[in-house]
Amino acid sequence: MRVDEALIDKVRTSVDIVDIIGEYVQLKKQGRNYFGLCPFHSEKSPSFSVSPEKQIFHCFGCGVGGNVYSFLMEIEGYNFPEAVYHLGEKVGISVPRQEDQIYNNKNNKTDQLYRGMDLLTKFYHYLLTETAHGKTAMQYLTKRGFSRATIDHFQIGYAPSAWETVTRFLERRKVPLKDFVEIGMLSTRDFDGKVFDRFRHRVMFPITDMKGRTVAFAGRVLDDQKPKYLNSPESNIFHKGRLLFGYHSARQAIKKKNEVVLFEGYADVIQAYQAGVDNGVASMGTSLTDEQAGILTRNAEKIIICYDSDSAGTEAAFRAAEMLKGYNRSIRIARMPQGMDPDEYIQKFGDEQFRHSVLGASLTVMAFKMQYLRRKRNMNDEGDRLRYIETVLREISELPQAVERDHYLRQLSDEFSISLEALKQQQYQIYRQLKSKGKMGTENANVKLLPKNRTLLPAHLMAERQLLAHMMRDADVALEVRDKVGAGFYSDIHEALAAHLYAYYEEGRQPDVASFIQRLEDAELKAAATEVAMMEVNEQATAQEIEDCIMMINHHRLEELIRQKEIERKEAERANDLEKATDILAEIISMKKGLGRN
Ligand code: GTP
Ligand code: MN
Repeated sequence: MRVDEALIDKVRTSVDIVDIIGEYVQLKKQGRNYFGLCPFHSEKSPSFSVSPEKQIFHCFGCGVGGNVYSFLMEIEGYNFPEAVYHLGEKVGISVPRQEDQIYNNKNNKTDQLYRGMDLLTKFYHYLLTETAHGKTAMQYLTKRGFSRATIDHFQIGYAPSAWETVTRFLERRKVPLKDFVEIGMLSTRDFDGKVFDRFRHRVMFPITDMKGRTVAFAGRVLDDQKPKYLNSPESNIFHKGRLLFGYHSARQAIKKKNEVVLFEGYADVIQAYQAGVDNGVASMGTSLTDEQAGILTRNAEKIIICYDSDSAGTEAAFRAAEMLKGYNRSIRIARMPQGMDPDEYIQKFGDEQFRHSVLGASLTVMAFKMQYLRRKRNMNDEGDRLRYIETVLREISELPQAVERDHYLRQLSDEFSISLEALKQQQYQIYRQLKSKGKMGTENANVKLLPKNRTLLPAHLMAERQLLAHMMRDADVALEVRDKVGAGFYSDIHEALAAHLYAYYEEGRQPDVASFIQRLEDAELKAAATEVAMMEVNEQATAQEIEDCIMMINHHRLEELIRQKEIERKEAERANDLEKATDILAEIISMKKGLGRN
């Protein structure tokens, strides 16, 4: 289904790309552009840029780029009409759309999986909330303090105590059963291959991906049986390490508060949500992965780790903090009384106290470590005390910033009445030791808010790009280049861009980078175009500048040609075809004239 071009432009021009991207990425203004961490690849320093003037984005790290539609397509997985539709919806412009566009491809297996998982989410939720089957599960959830609104918000459901309920439901909906065996929602009987429900008599928590689609379920028993959770296995649509439980629904709040709370369990996220903490997500019981660290750090400047306050939880919190440390974010650790988890804490002490005395009292990683180390030792014992101080000094030595180190040194000095000077000296000694053993990380260098320099291009390619950048801004330049260079660009991709620009202006259009990029179908071209558009060039090119670029390109082409001809000439000589060799030499000489040297 094609959307009308005028409508496409109308929707696009009625938004500011900075606002739209700002909903997904923390952006900071720097000069004319905004910078942030790229949502499309894992990085620790921002190379993702957005230009408000040109209404485009570009990542200098991974090369992705385009206009607001390209961004939405990339991040939400929309196709083009969907991107226009959703953006239109946002600004109140109605865009006609085909019914059920999302799952309309009957032949696509992945689409069928999403459709089936969506149906299942609703079915389990219905069984829990509206039928007699769900009564005990409902009582269980109520006893745990979950309200009906919360149950609806997380679409919690119930898998009944039966062997074929879900199998038959999927069958009736014409969902291919074998695909659902594959993703672990159904099982097959060994001896005759008969399909049956895998999840039975369990509370079902849908796990959604970054786009809010159910990709897996966690099924919890209603009592103390083991295993407590039965989870969907890894599959085509479910990669546990690449998502965080609750992320999709918390995303807006995370962005708005510029803060995210990281829990260990589903129950914690859900209970906390009910307690007014709507920016919580969970790592689902396993160690934080690089991808998860990326999601957290891209979206918020403050990350509060709120793991269970038992020894396993504390160790896991340290590991998570370690994972997050190179990202230049403020990392805090919240703790509860020994042995408690957030879910229990909230039920015992209430919402208000959780928000204030746990999250509100969260500590920096260093302060948390100090508290933790102190608790394990007897501070009245001289030996323990010295070992404690030594360990803390070692930790302090790893802090990248002098002010931070100073802060904790002073704290130690106050606490143990040791002179600051003495502590500083000892800490420096430890630092030297660690450094000579090569144990000091180097990744703590301050993160710069500047795009990385791409490898320097050879001069003729630089000239091509500079020229293209001016062509995007100025129709006259483009038409001049058309006449003087035409298809003579050295790089294929530059040549393609030039051809599109000629065509664009020949249709009588005005310079408009975002609109130009929109017309490019090819993703590689789009990326190249945005990269060029993001180049810093003088707004108003001088005639001389343009002339120089054109000359550089044409010369380079000639030089290449001459080199080619030299080879041909040598070949002709070797083959004793002197006539041919002489002809070629004449050509070479005339080409060299074109270069201005003979
Ligand atoms: P409740 O016991 O209902 O409060 O669940 P919880 O979410 O608080 O779980 P807990 O804190 O015990 O564990 C943290 C997380 O580890 C859970 O949310 C799960 O992601 C994971 N987990 C815990 N137990 C199991 C299990 O038996 N199997 C699997 N696959 N994962 C588990
Ligand atoms: Mn729990």
